[in-house]
Amino acid sequence: MIPAFGFNQVRSTPLRLTFLLLTIFAMAALACLAVAFEVTRTSIDAALAAELQQTINEYRGIQDSDDLRERLAEAAAKTDPDIRILFYVPDQGTAVSNVASFPPVSGVTIVSDNSIRAKSGSVSDSYLALSARVGAGHLIVAQSREQVEEMGEIFLAVLFIGLLPALVIAGLAGLWVAKGARIKIDAIQHTLLELKSGTLSARIEGVEGRSDDLSGIGQEVNRMARAQEALVASIRQVSSDIAHDLKTPIQRVAVVLEQVMNKTTLTEGQEVLLSRAIGETERIVQTFQSLLQLAQIEGGAVRDRLHPVNLVEVSRDVVDFLEVEAEERGFALSLRVQPNVVACIKGDRHLLSQLIGNLVQNALTHVPKGGPVVVEVTGRGNETVLTVSDHGPGIPEKERGKVLQRLYRLDQSRTTEGNGLGLSLVSAISDLHGARLTLEDNMPGLTVRVTFPAMQPV
Ligand SMILES: Nc1ncnc2c1ncn2[C@@H]1O[C@H](COP(=O)(O)OP(=O)(O)OP(=O)(O)O)[C@@H](O)[C@H]1O
Ligand SMILES: [Mg+2]
Repeated sequence: MIPAFGFNQVRSTPLRLTFLLLTIFAMAALACLAVAFEVTRTSIDAALAAELQQTINEYRGIQDSDDLRERLAEAAAKTDPDIRILFYVPDQGTAVSNVASFPPVSGVTIVSDNSIRAKSGSVSDSYLALSARVGAGHLIVAQSREQVEEMGEIFLAVLFIGLLPALVIAGLAGLWVAKGARIKIDAIQHTLLELKSGTLSARIEGVEGRSDDLSGIGQEVNRMARAQEALVASIRQVSSDIAHDLKTPIQRVAVVLEQVMNKTTLTEGQEVLLSRAIGETERIVQTFQSLLQLAQIEGGAVRDRLHPVNLVEVSRDVVDFLEVEAEERGFALSLRVQPNVVACIKGDRHLLSQLIGNLVQNALTHVPKGGPVVVEVTGRGNETVLTVSDHGPGIPEKERGKVLQRLYRLDQSRTTEGNGLGLSLVSAISDLHGARLTLEDNMPGLTVRVTFPAMQPV
């Protein structure tokens, strides 16, 4: 089967190399044929010229002019002008010839115009003619170059029957090889894009154990991806180990600080400092809690806990819970539901509440002036879409990938509470549910869109 090539493949390096090689091959083959043709033609013409010279010499050997005329007339009568022409024009008297007319020539000349007129019958298309003075007149002997013409036809046949099919076969084989290379290059590009977008488990298939150069590059990319994945895993492991080991002692510190606060008589200044210390320890515990939860979700252990959940119900619970707090802080939090939406998805109710809660909390924290915050559930084909939108400062496009990373916060949020783990959790929860997470411009503000695969309600 011949591979199909799309327009975008015109720029592919293997395809270009194939066309370049084919062009070089075709030009080389044509040049070889042309040289071979020219060499053969020259040698045939040289042989013909020698033959003509010999004939002229034979007639030159006849001294008597009457005898010469007689011999020439006899030869002209016997010679087929289609093969050979004799044309003798004596200084006096009538011409002796087997054709009606022949153009004037000097020395050895190729005559291939149609100025030769036959007495009867036909003449050839091309002749090699030699003119010389013989006796008391001029003799032209011309030999048909039909052999040369035939050879030209043979060369053309070689070109069409031999070279063109060879070119077509080589071209198809080249396209086939180029297609194979293109598939590998596409696989490498695709995997690199996946790795770039954070899917560290992406690997190039079908390159291991092969020795060609592209497979070699593929193996190196895979090796690099494995090393990267192991590195990230070990960093995550270290961060969750630290969180795990430090969480309990910090919690104990918090308890001791509470006891100092409750059981000791303190000055007002000491009390302020102590409650700040308690607040900081709570933040540290919260950070460790979130890091541990992230490690747990990303580890996939929660995957078995997914059951059919109604996303509208979960959204309503979160909105009801946060409505009062939102109102107190100057926000109008509302829920919009598309009529007849298929709101059932396969998920974990607790984690979904946390996802929606984190997004609403972000709006309440990072939008300084209050305003509307809308949680919306819509449906599209077999997808259920949750969006949380506000009219705050939004997130610049180039920062949208980074805010999903652990502990990353925009400069504008340095003074607000939080530790940059809320969106990392949203991203991990959305991945766990097989959903697509996008941050968009709400013009003005931020829209966070989470697209879940929908489920028919059970
Ligand atoms: N609705 C929003 N409007 C503007 N900026 C936002 C919004 N949501 C998030 N951001 C920006 O993205 C950063 C990361 O958000 P994320 O929720 O991960 O962390 P956080 O809110 O700062 O802290 P945490 O959620 O851990 O308490 C925020 O610090 C803020 O700069
Ligand atoms: Mg947050």
